[in-house]
Amino acid sequence: MKMFKDILQEAQQNKVAVGHFNFSDLIVLWAVSLAASELNLPVMVGVSEGERAFVGVRQAAALVRSIREEFGQPIFLNADHTHSIAKAEEAARAGFDEIIFDGSALPFDENIARTKEAVEAVKSISPTILVEGEIGWIGASSEILAKVPEGVGVLTTPQEAKQFVAATKVDVLAPAVGNMHGLTQSMVHGEAEKRLDISRIGEIKAEAGIFMTLHGGSGTRDEDFQQAIKAGMNIVHINTELRLAWRHGLQQSLQAHPDEVAPYKILPPVVQAVNDVVKRRLCLFNFR
Ligand code: G3H
Ligand code: ZN
Repeated sequence: MKMFKDILQEAQQNKVAVGHFNFSDLIVLWAVSLAASELNLPVMVGVSEGERAFVGVRQAAALVRSIREEFGQPIFLNADHTHSIAKAEEAARAGFDEIIFDGSALPFDENIARTKEAVEAVKSISPTILVEGEIGWIGASSEILAKVPEGVGVLTTPQEAKQFVAATKVDVLAPAVGNMHGLTQSMVHGEAEKRLDISRIGEIKAEAGIFMTLHGGSGTRDEDFQQAIKAGMNIVHINTELRLAWRHGLQQSLQAHPDEVAPYKILPPVVQAVNDVVKRRLCLFNFR
């Protein structure tokens, strides 16, 4: 079985991106795994600190490992937006493939110092785990937002990227390039889209020289995704769009089966609703 680093190298060569989808239950995990296997593509699933607190750290690792082992599927697990060294170490010990240390809310120098510490701590547990660092504020939550959070919209500079990568030795960089976590109401209703600064992505890539992740993918213009990937993004994160599909799918299924109480009869349409979104996104990220 290939390591996640090999998958990223292949994606980089082929100018496609690996889709990353968050989960906090078996419905979404199955929806993602099935979508990727239907399209014969590698995929990454992620659990943030909140999602991990609900699923369980070792349980998330065991679930993903069981799918990988039983079906030989290239599905990888990321400890998304980890804010403490202790939680990064916990995920490393549980066998995660990637850990994102998120110091983006800290002053830049402090972010560098803490991320460097996280890289050393994780690599001392397992040198093959990839560590991602984040610079620039893109908001914190995969939710429906009343307004764009304060501070969002300031772009990472190529110089910051270069300094951050050199000082921390991260394997993957997540910059701020017009992206944002979550969706505003107008984005939910298709009246607005997130737009990315493609030339800035190319400039950051040239200075950083490492793999890059686009966070806050939900609601981004299709064309911007593809240009961002051509300019150097290797992983794309989607969460809020899946949460929306999950909620709508569940509401519809409960309405359609008012007297049903068996979860395995109520929930398959929810798997399908999420699966549809994941497939559309995977096709886009792989230029199909
Ligand atoms: O780490 C999670 C992602 O960056 C998700 O962002 O909820 O806007 O898709 P999103
Ligand atoms: Zn994110």
